[in-house]
Amino acid sequence: MSASAPQTISYPAPGARPSRDAGERVAPHVVTLFGATGDLARRKLLPGLAHLDASSLAPDIRVVGTSLEDHDDASFRAFARQAVDEFSSHPLTPAQWDAFAETLVYVPQSAGPEALATAVHEAEALLGDGALRLHYLSVPPRAALAVIDTLRAAGLVDRSRVVMEKPFGTDLPSAVALNHQVHQTFGEEQIFRIDHFLGKEAAQNILAFRFANGLFEPIWNRNFIDHVQIDIPETLGLDRRSAFYEATGAYKDMVVTHLFQVLAFVAMEPPTALEPRAISEEKNKVFRSLLPVQPGDVVRGQYVGYHDEDGVARDSDTETFIALKAGLDNWRWAGVPFYLRTGKRMAEGLRIISIAFKEAPRSMFPAGSGVGAAGPDHLTFDLAEDSKVSLSFYGKRPGPGMKLDKLSMQFSTHETERAGEVLEAYERLILDAMWGDHTLFTTAEGIESLWERSIPLLDDPPPVKPYAPGTWGPNAIHQLIAPHAWRLPFERGWRQSR
Ligand code: BG6
Repeated sequence: MSASAPQTISYPAPGARPSRDAGERVAPHVVTLFGATGDLARRKLLPGLAHLDASSLAPDIRVVGTSLEDHDDASFRAFARQAVDEFSSHPLTPAQWDAFAETLVYVPQSAGPEALATAVHEAEALLGDGALRLHYLSVPPRAALAVIDTLRAAGLVDRSRVVMEKPFGTDLPSAVALNHQVHQTFGEEQIFRIDHFLGKEAAQNILAFRFANGLFEPIWNRNFIDHVQIDIPETLGLDRRSAFYEATGAYKDMVVTHLFQVLAFVAMEPPTALEPRAISEEKNKVFRSLLPVQPGDVVRGQYVGYHDEDGVARDSDTETFIALKAGLDNWRWAGVPFYLRTGKRMAEGLRIISIAFKEAPRSMFPAGSGVGAAGPDHLTFDLAEDSKVSLSFYGKRPGPGMKLDKLSMQFSTHETERAGEVLEAYERLILDAMWGDHTLFTTAEGIESLWERSIPLLDDPPPVKPYAPGTWGPNAIHQLIAPHAWRLPFERGWRQSR
């Protein structure tokens, strides 16, 4: 916080929000981290909290970790230390680590709600009057309701917000039931359903790109756009998550959450303001206009060897890969296919959104000039940490005659002076939840619409087709997208920064 920042601290009720623009400060927070020794906590949440604590972006925080494992404060700090050393994108100085370690305490879940309440109250006393509570539920879906009961039994609902991890239900009835049950304890304004893809700098850049410029929005529709691809192949496999993955699969793990959320940013109408209600309204309209996902438009795949993984049933039908054709039934997008693909153990790990523009009539170019030979013009967003945008087009090859090559204009955040200021997605979203800012979070209504559109696929999923690890999925993906072609693998790599 700069020396000139106002010193008045405001303590908002969970529904209210302090104004970031007016330089107000957010109240100190006790973060109760459920699943504190799990994979997500290790890879993202503990390193993210440590960075926020050190960066002075966050208010004063204290962290109460809890999970099924038996730890004490010292062994939890050692666990956190290892996580931060291994996974933090911003290394801490020894003094920063010491300061963060001092904020960490641990309560095993077996100690019960009273012990948890005591630890939270002690942390609050250290932070001073008016501290708020952020409960982060980094737990599997089946454990979420038990945690909510614990919070109620512990009397920790007041002055709190709760961050929930996906998947939010596994179909429409379970999502409706989950929302209903959570609403028995927490008001919707207290609930932050996290979709970390929307916390990625590059995903938010889609909104900036579309709505801060006059250049692209006039052509952002079915008259000029031929099709869209949202392609998120991963090289990683199950890691240690087979129990979760077996019960979830690629559609519920990735599509209903991340890919459809990104699709909404690409397809939504301009919101009336850059604020949560307006953005949610437009996203929800996209979800309502999503055509029901038909089994015939879906390729489900399973990598060869999946059955041999620990914790996987020998006859498992869980898909580790999915590709599908989606459509939106509205004026802007009628007839424009959206091709989505994601899977584990694929050839490359990438996160690409690719907008293919309609091709020019090209009648003036002689045969053999090369026009159209390398596909349509594309606008491509790469959602990687060093987020990139590229616009490809045909241009003249230097020299005699009129030969054409596919050229591109490219931008990468990492070529700018502000590259070091990029926040990791979870850091950004934890901070937003502390500010009470729902802009990048998902609503109950949005989630329920998506499950509703998923009914035909969930009722009658096509059988999984095998694919070899290290490939781009089963062969059927080519028929699915014909007469178009998948952008990946790229024919030309991204330009490397000098
Ligand atoms: C998670 C999924 O939500 O997102 C994982 O559960 C997936 O299966 C991960 O690997 C991908 O996120 P990122 O940010 O690494 O692309």
